[in-house]
Amino acid sequence: MPTLTIRRPDDWHLHLRDGRMLCAVLPETARHFVRALVMPNLVPPVVTGAQARAYRRRILAALPKDMMFEPLMTLYLTETTDPDDMAAAFADGLIHAVKLYPAGATTNSASGVRDMARIRPVLERMARIGLPLCLHGEVTTPEVDIFDRERVFIDTVLAPLCRDLPELKVTLEHITTADGIAYVTEATGHIAGTITPHHLMLNRTHLLAGGIRPHYYCLPVAKRAEHQMALRRAAISSNPRFFLGTDSAPHTDAAKESSCGCAGCFTAPVALSCLAHVFEAHGALDRLEGFAARFGPAHYGLTPNLATITLERRDAPVTYPDTLETGVGPVTLFNPGHPLYWRVV
Ligand code: DOR
Ligand code: ZN
Repeated sequence: MPTLTIRRPDDWHLHLRDGRMLCAVLPETARHFVRALVMPNLVPPVVTGAQARAYRRRILAALPKDMMFEPLMTLYLTETTDPDDMAAAFADGLIHAVKLYPAGATTNSASGVRDMARIRPVLERMARIGLPLCLHGEVTTPEVDIFDRERVFIDTVLAPLCRDLPELKVTLEHITTADGIAYVTEATGHIAGTITPHHLMLNRTHLLAGGIRPHYYCLPVAKRAEHQMALRRAAISSNPRFFLGTDSAPHTDAAKESSCGCAGCFTAPVALSCLAHVFEAHGALDRLEGFAARFGPAHYGLTPNLATITLERRDAPVTYPDTLETGVGPVTLFNPGHPLYWRVV
């Protein structure tokens, strides 16, 4: 049976939630990933160093005793973020990035940023101390079509930001467009982009043709096939500016299968199977390690993991349960709609 052994990966964009949901989903990530950059969009959001420290403790308390996992914490940037508190949390080694959600862009983003001018002093401080900024790269202007929100964000927010603060370390998260790939590829400065397994596997036709698929709905929403192909080319390119952030984002089935369903794909259990599938399809399995385990730590100033993980290619399709029970309701696992053959041994 063909096998592939790579350094153990990290996940540079993960939603772990809290309470019983946290307890249920955490092992799904810890089983395969050594570290993950943990998103701060709880209700209420993780805004202060003290809140990040308390959340980190809750994550470690939820970790099964026989598992190892290192949560890398982030702060949720608001227009009233205290730069001294933020800088102290970074100096302590507690936080590894600050997350900017444009207000209203996605799940629990109501406390996000409305006016970029108001966070300018915080961004200048981040640039000075080397604290990375993670971006949910979509404008929320109601007149901008939802399929154009990433492209318009790049033109109106990201490009001016990188021009004005070239020292700022920036991650354009969950890129979904060829425009995002082109910007990150060509920009000067300290910029990287994460790509999710589901955006490598889906385009908007999968979401909408033959019936609406709530479990394929996420933000930024999947775009045309040509954009999906641009993401695939970037992921397999060995360009160290592109690396894995799953954006695994669990919601209960009740919240997803609704007249106003939540955005998010729960991909953690199947992420590596999906990635191996995509990289194999492009004859690029030898490049999976860079994407999943080396380029992310390099961007965030950490060393790659020494431990390894082995995947094997089965003759018969690998099966996963349809749902994960969480204690607050079932959560459907991401299913690309075709067989997967790779699994973690
Ligand atoms: O699909 C998404 N789900 N996109 C986000 O930006 C947030 C996430 C969530 O928290 O559910
Ligand atoms: Zn996310």
